[in-house]
Amino acid sequence: MTPQLISKQPKLGTTIFTVMSGLAAEVGAVNLGQGFPDFECDPQLTHAVTKAMQEGLNQYPPMPGVLPLREAVSQKIENLYHHHYDAQTEITITAGATQALLTIMLAVVHSGDEVIVLEPCYDCYVPNVEMAGGVVVRVPLTPGTFKPDFDKIQAAITSKTRAILINSPHNPSGMVWRHEDMLKLQEILAPTQIVLISDEVYEHMVYAPLQHWSAAHFDGLAARAFIVSSFGKTYHVTGWKVGTVAAPADYTAELRKVHQFMVFTVNTPMQHALARYMADPAPYLELPAFYQRKRDLFRQGLAQTHFKLLPGEGTYFQCADISGLQVPEKNLSEAEFCQWLTAEIGVAAIPLSAFYGNGFDQKVIRFCFAKTDETLHAALHKLKGL
Ligand SMILES: Cc1ncc(COP(=O)(O)O)c(C=O)c1O
Repeated sequence: MTPQLISKQPKLGTTIFTVMSGLAAEVGAVNLGQGFPDFECDPQLTHAVTKAMQEGLNQYPPMPGVLPLREAVSQKIENLYHHHYDAQTEITITAGATQALLTIMLAVVHSGDEVIVLEPCYDCYVPNVEMAGGVVVRVPLTPGTFKPDFDKIQAAITSKTRAILINSPHNPSGMVWRHEDMLKLQEILAPTQIVLISDEVYEHMVYAPLQHWSAAHFDGLAARAFIVSSFGKTYHVTGWKVGTVAAPADYTAELRKVHQFMVFTVNTPMQHALARYMADPAPYLELPAFYQRKRDLFRQGLAQTHFKLLPGEGTYFQCADISGLQVPEKNLSEAEFCQWLTAEIGVAAIPLSAFYGNGFDQKVIRFCFAKTDETLHAALHKLKGL
């Protein structure tokens, strides 16, 4: 007899990204759905991994990550955001931002604690809070602009609020928090015991004239923050799953208690390769210009259609409103429209409703432009008649 499992996550299915990528592969569509580059990373980076392996760097690294990588991350944060994190006690290397976020939740959230999540949001946030036994308090970002609504955030705070999770540059909207937004958040959190979890995985994809304002830059936020980033986004290696958490020493100590029994540590040769590669800041400093050109190419192409473009301030995502399209399918739900777009037009995209707990449908879909120019041209050619 096979004992039956009682699902601990009865509401969860397969993520929309997996579903749309599967459909895109099945019908041979251009996949602008899931967020990953379809081009190679810098060969110097793969050579550095091979070299590290050949040098025998193949056994367990220290639990928090190899020190040269933690030092490189600390130095970068200091150079860019002017806050010093001690590499020994305040920087931890994780298996991507995904593991970082769950580890933080398990370390911070006690049963019944409330965690404020701003919607639309990346799909792991809500399950992570729930896996930690927390209660998700959803606060909408302003529809249309996706800017934080501080009155609503303030109103959502109770004596049970343990943490708030923010994400700038923002997936899915591409919105970027301004200096004054970070100051306002700092002011609201100042009299509270609320921990800030700041997901900054797209920190190097902010387009001129805007800039990234890391929580690290604001002393009142840095003192209460876990700051999460990911090498996958920055160096075009989403499959490597290497990320970082920067946090004050006492926060980091709690994080590592969970980390050591979740994954213990992260693969050694990639960490050494990343540490060596980080010695040159050019790749991450040049990333905004690299992606801004792709964003502009894609936006110019979409401007020839009846898609209405939303602002593209950061990330490698471009959102578009479908309500003005010249096809009857514009009246479908976002999710059905994306299935139609993939199967019939041959371009995969993601419905924004997938980023809301209640499936809020605002006729907006998300394209990923982290693709070769050929891929972007091929997609634009298919979208041309819409
Ligand atoms: C906002 C956000 N946070 C976290 C992640 C996960 O990053 P990683 O691939 O490093 O686990 C992603 C990946 O798409 C993301 O968009």
